[in-house]
Amino acid sequence: MRKSITVQEEERRYLAQELHDSLGQSVSAIKAIAVSIEERSRITDPVVSDSMKYIEQVAGAAYSSVRDLMVSLRPAVLDELGLIHALNQMVDDWNLHHEDTFCRFRFEGNYRNLDEELQINIYRIVQEALTNISKYAKAENVSVTISGEEIISLLIVDDGKGFDMDTVTRNMGLTGIRDRVTLLRGELEIASRPGKGVSIQIEFPKVDYFRRRSGDR
Ligand SMILES: Nc1ncnc2c1ncn2[C@@H]1O[C@H](COP(=O)(O)OP(=O)(O)OP(=O)(O)O)[C@@H](O)[C@H]1O
Ligand SMILES: [Mg+2]
Repeated sequence: MRKSITVQEEERRYLAQELHDSLGQSVSAIKAIAVSIEERSRITDPVVSDSMKYIEQVAGAAYSSVRDLMVSLRPAVLDELGLIHALNQMVDDWNLHHEDTFCRFRFEGNYRNLDEELQINIYRIVQEALTNISKYAKAENVSVTISGEEIISLLIVDDGKGFDMDTVTRNMGLTGIRDRVTLLRGELEIASRPGKGVSIQIEFPKVDYFRRRSGDR
C-alpha cells in the first residue's frame, strides 16, 4: 500500500511536470501568437483582430485550468512553503470559494522538519476532507487543527449535514484517507450523525514513524 501511494505521488508529479512542459507551454504559445496577430490586424482587419482577442481569452482560460490541474496534482507549495503555510494557503483559498462557510485553520507546534511523505499525506487528507465538505456538508463552520509534537494530531470538524455511519458508502475519498492513515501508522476515527456534522480525527506518531520506517525498508 505504501508503494502504491508513493507510486501514485510519483505519477502525479510526472503528470504535473508534463502538463507544465507540454500543454502549458503550447497554450501559452497559442496565446502569444494570438496577441501578436491581434496587434498587427487591429487597424487593417478588425474582424480578425476581434477573433484573436477571443482566442486570447480562451487560451487564458485553458491555461488557468492547466495551472489548477498542476496544483492539484502536485502540491508544489509543500516544497516552497512547507506544510503549515501550504495548508494555510489551501484553507485561505477554500474560504475564498465558499462564501457561506468559514474554515478556520489552527496549529500548535513546529512542523518544519516533517518527512516529505508525511507532509504530502497530511496535505492530501485535508484536501479530500475539505472537498467532501464542499460537496456534501452545507456547513457553516469548519475547523482544521494540527497539534502535538511526538503524537501529531489532525482534526477536521464541520457542522454540516453529516451522514449515517451505518449506511454511508465509503468511496475513494474516505477509503484513501484510511489508507494514508494506515501508511502513517496512525489511528483514524470518523464520527458523524445525520444533522450533526462530521469529525475526522487522526493521530500518528512522529518519532515512531521514522524509526519503524527505517526498519522496514
Ligand atoms: N463532510 C461531509 N458531510 C456530509 N457527508 C459527507 C461528508 N464527507 C463524506 N460524506 C459522505 O460520505 C460519502 C463518502 O465520501 P467519499 O469521500 O468516500 O466519497 P465521495 O466524495 O462520494 O467520492 P470520491 O471518491 O470522489 O471522494 C459521500 O458520498 C457523502 O455521502
Ligand atoms: Mg470524497
